[in-house]
Formats: sequence, C-alpha cells, structure tokens
Amino acid sequence: MADYDFDVLVIGAGPGGYVAAIRAAQLGLKTACAESRETLGGTCLNVGCIPSKAMLHASEYFDAAANGAMAKMGIEVTPKLNLDAMHGQRRDAVKQLTGGIEFLFKKNKVEWLKGLATFEDAHSVSVAGKKVTAKNIVIATGSSVTPLPGVTIDEKVVVSSTGALELEKVPEHMVVIGGGVIGLELGSVWRRLGAKVTCVEYLDAILPGMDMDVRKEALKIFKKQGIEFKLGTKVTGVQVNGGTATLTLEPAKGGETEMLNADCVLVSIGRKPNTDGLGLDKIGLAVNQRGQIETDHDFRTKVDGVWAIGDVIPGPMLAHKAEDEGIAVAENIAGLTGIVNHDLIPGVVYTWPEIAGVGLTEEDAKAKYGEVKVGKFPMLANSRAKTNHEPDGFVKVIADAKSDRVLGVWCIASVAGTMIAQATQAMEFGATSEDIAYTCHAHPTHSEAIKEAAMAVTGKPIHI
Ligand code: FAD
Ligand code: NAI
Repeated sequence: MADYDFDVLVIGAGPGGYVAAIRAAQLGLKTACAESRETLGGTCLNVGCIPSKAMLHASEYFDAAANGAMAKMGIEVTPKLNLDAMHGQRRDAVKQLTGGIEFLFKKNKVEWLKGLATFEDAHSVSVAGKKVTAKNIVIATGSSVTPLPGVTIDEKVVVSSTGALELEKVPEHMVVIGGGVIGLELGSVWRRLGAKVTCVEYLDAILPGMDMDVRKEALKIFKKQGIEFKLGTKVTGVQVNGGTATLTLEPAKGGETEMLNADCVLVSIGRKPNTDGLGLDKIGLAVNQRGQIETDHDFRTKVDGVWAIGDVIPGPMLAHKAEDEGIAVAENIAGLTGIVNHDLIPGVVYTWPEIAGVGLTEEDAKAKYGEVKVGKFPMLANSRAKTNHEPDGFVKVIADAKSDRVLGVWCIASVAGTMIAQATQAMEFGATSEDIAYTCHAHPTHSEAIKEAAMAVTGKPIHI
C-alpha cells in the first residue's frame, strides 16, 4: 500500500522540477514534488543564479564607485565595503524567492514531499521512509560541482561556487580554476571587491561554446579590468597549509611546472548530473558516458512512465532551459504537445559588460551552412552606450548568405542579457537580417546596436 498516490511525482524542485510540478497541477493532474533540500528552488534559487546575481549586482555598484565610473558622471564617492550587509541582501533575495515557490506550490496545490527520493520501481519511489506511487515520474534532480581529481574542496580555502558566494572576507589572491561562466562571474565579484584574481584555464581561450570573436573580446575586457589569465594551463594539484593554498600548474601541452600561492581557490570546471542515490538501477535506467539521462524529444526516458528534464539530461545547464523543459514535460504528460526548441536557448554571462549569445557561432554556422554573411556593430558607436560611458563590446549578427535567415546573434554590452531576448524571438519566428534591420527600435537604446548589426549584414549600417 502506498502512503501517497499521484498522477505526477516530480523529483527535484529546481527551475525544471518546480515549473513542471506547477504546470502539471495547472493542467488538473494530482501532483507532488520531492525535494531533499530544506528550501525549494534548487541550485538556481539557493546557490546558483539568484545569489550569484545578488553579489554581481551589489559588487557592480561598489566597483562603479571605486573605479572612477561614478566620478566620470560627477558623483565623487569613496566606497566602504560592508560585506556582511552585502551577504545579508543576498540571503534575503534567496529567502524571498524560495519562499515564493513555496507559496506557488500551495496556490497550485502541489504537494511538497520533503526528503531524498529513491526509486523502488518505475511507478513507486520512497521519500523519507514513505512509499509514494505515481503514474508518471519526472526526474529533475539537476547537477552539482564537478570535482578536480586530487583537489579537496573544503569550502574554506578551496571552494566551489557555493563557498565562493559566502566568503567571510575578501581574499587577497583568488585563483579561479576554469575560465567558464562561474569562474568569470564569481571571479568578477571578488575582483571588484578588492581581490587580486588569477584565472587558470585549460584551453587557449575562455568561455568555451561561445563565438570566437566574443571569446577574444571578452578576454581583452577582463584583462583590462585587472583579472590575470593563465591560458593553456592545467592545475595538477592544490596543497593547503594553514590558510594558504599552493597550486601546481602545468602547460596543457606539457612543459615546466609552476607554483602559485593563493588564499582562496575556486574550483569551477563544470557541473555533473545528479543521479547518485536515485536508484536508477532499480528501474533499469542507465546513464550515458557523461552521466546524463537520455530522453526522446518529448522528455520520455527509455522506461515507460519515467521522464527527465533539466541539468540531468543533455544540453546546456541553464535554468531557463530547465524551466521550458518543465513546462513541456508537464504538457506532454497531460496529453498536450510540449516542445522546446533546443537550437535557440540563449546563454548569458552576467559580468560587466554582459556577454550573451543565441543560435550558432560563426564557426559552426560556416560548418553547417557554408557561406554566411556577418554584420558587426561596436557599442562605442551606439549613442546610449556612449552616453552611459559603456564603450566596450559589440553586436554580431550571422546570417545565411543565401536565404539571409539569421543563424546566430552575439553581444557584449552592459545589458546584453536583456538585448538577446529580441534576437531569440526574431530567430524563433525565422527572421532574416533584413527583418531585424527594418524593425523600428526605440532611440536611444542599447538594442539599436542589434538593428545596426543586422543592417551591417548587407553593409549598410548608419552610425559607423
Ligand atoms: P537544480 O536546480 O539543480 O535542482 C535539482 C534539485 O533536485 C535540487 O534542489 C536537489 O536538492 C534536488 N534533488 C536531487 N536529487 C534528489 C533526490 N533524489 N530526491 C529529492 N530531491 C533531489 N543558469 C542560468 O540560466 N542563469 C544563471 O545566471 C545561472 N547562474 C548559476 C550560478 C551558479 C553559481 C550555478 C552553480 C549555476 C548557475 N546556473 C545558471 C545554472 C542553473 O542553476 C541550473 O542550470 C539549474 O538550476 C538547473 O535546474 P534543474 O531544475 O535541472 O536542477
Ligand atoms: P563551464 O563549463 O562553463 O567552464 C569550465 C571551464 O573550466 C572550461 O573553460 C574548461 O575548459 C575549464 N577546465 C576544465 N578542466 C580544467 C582544469 N583541470 N584546469 C583548468 N581549466 C579547466 O563550467 P562552470 O563555469 O563550472 O559552470 C557550470 C555550469 O553552470 C555551466 O554549464 C553553466 O551553464 C552554468 N552556469 C550558468 C551561468 C549563467 O548562465 N550565467 C552562471 C553560472 C553557471
């Protein structure tokens, strides 16, 4: 006999799981969501997107006051850091937003089952000693930090992103292992607050997966801001003695080793899907070589009645991708048609300036479509960015040479994360560069740079 029986049980209350649960309940299905964490919202709300943005936003103000950006506008201030208060507003944002999901669960009559869920069979799961049965089970267990072999994360001197959000004092020297999204966002936070930051990246360029022009320009901007980079370098060991870490660095292609001291080391070399303790063996579900659960286009796994979404399945590990999959899986379970266009998932790095992209890089567009046309427009020539003293960055529009259909849009701009939405929407509707070029954009806005870059595809921008 089951203690509880549902139409849908979602395992994990991150942006994938909680959204799936709410939409399933909205569609009239009796729904529960099991979560092992004390609060709802998953990685994103508790230790990911939200707290990192709280620290990025606050440190951006501090930096603007400290680096002369405010003085340029006639505001002369000498900032004094109150790190406790900065952490306080971060915790407050997390508390309010995780509490908001609890409210939404109550409002939509989603039952929150507290505890770790483990499969007993394809339609039953045990949660905190209770047996729960459901016609459909959605695995939305997310991801956690990829460890670096031989390096122990103590969350004091050697930290993961979670520890890096909560440092009690500004490090003197922070070494960031990995020049990806987490390394650059959290490295930026502590650089702005006064730390010397060195980023050690295995590859020859930062931000893998992004357009190469963007990767090169971003590197120049971060260097100008004071972050030091050791590219083409791997960390082969970290020894901690007292409060000091000594890192052993080795050129990726082999050669002399080098030692580096730091009082804080951030390990940010990627994340891995969470499947440990889930009991997948009990239902005969294997993971792929990357530890991910494979699904079909509708988010069905190989086991009838078991579905999976979010960071635990292939694709970019992003909250909005997980959310969209959450809606789609619930709609598919309810017999509707839930679709996610995985070709158009925007990616944003929330540094200063922001870095954003959607669709194909120029390299991939050429490989897939042969000839492409590219239009670029510098933010320096955008009146609003120039007026706001935000000269760094550009917009790049990549279009198919034959059809003019837009294949990719890339931006580095103070508000690139907001600007990329219009590009994504235009591409979702199959826009050509001409469609964007002839769409009226409000003046003066940063978004006009997207219009000008689209005009530049045919060689006819106005302001350069
Ligand atoms: P998760 O959010 O990881 O949630 C899964 C939940 O399942 C967890 O709460 C976990 O406790 C629970 N769980 C796991 N196993 C079980 C079990 N057996 N039983 C019960 N519960 C279980 N993405 C963005 O798009 N934008 C950003 O700005 C951004 N910033 C980030 C910053 C940081 C520092 C980090 C670490 C990540 C960031 N991400 C960002 C990535 C984003 O957080 C993830 O892509 C997103 O949270 C994935 O959602 P999910 O629902 O798949 O999984
Ligand atoms: P990442 O995959 O973005 O970057 C990891 C970097 O580490 C890569 O550049 C890789 O080449 C490098 N690396 C790997 N092993 C190394 C080694 N031994 N030595 C030196 N460098 C090494 O991973 P990251 O930054 O940890 O982020 C994890 C995930 O979280 C990302 O997939 C991202 O999607 C998500 N995230 C998203 C954010 C956003 O959307 N703004 C913010 C933060 C995280």
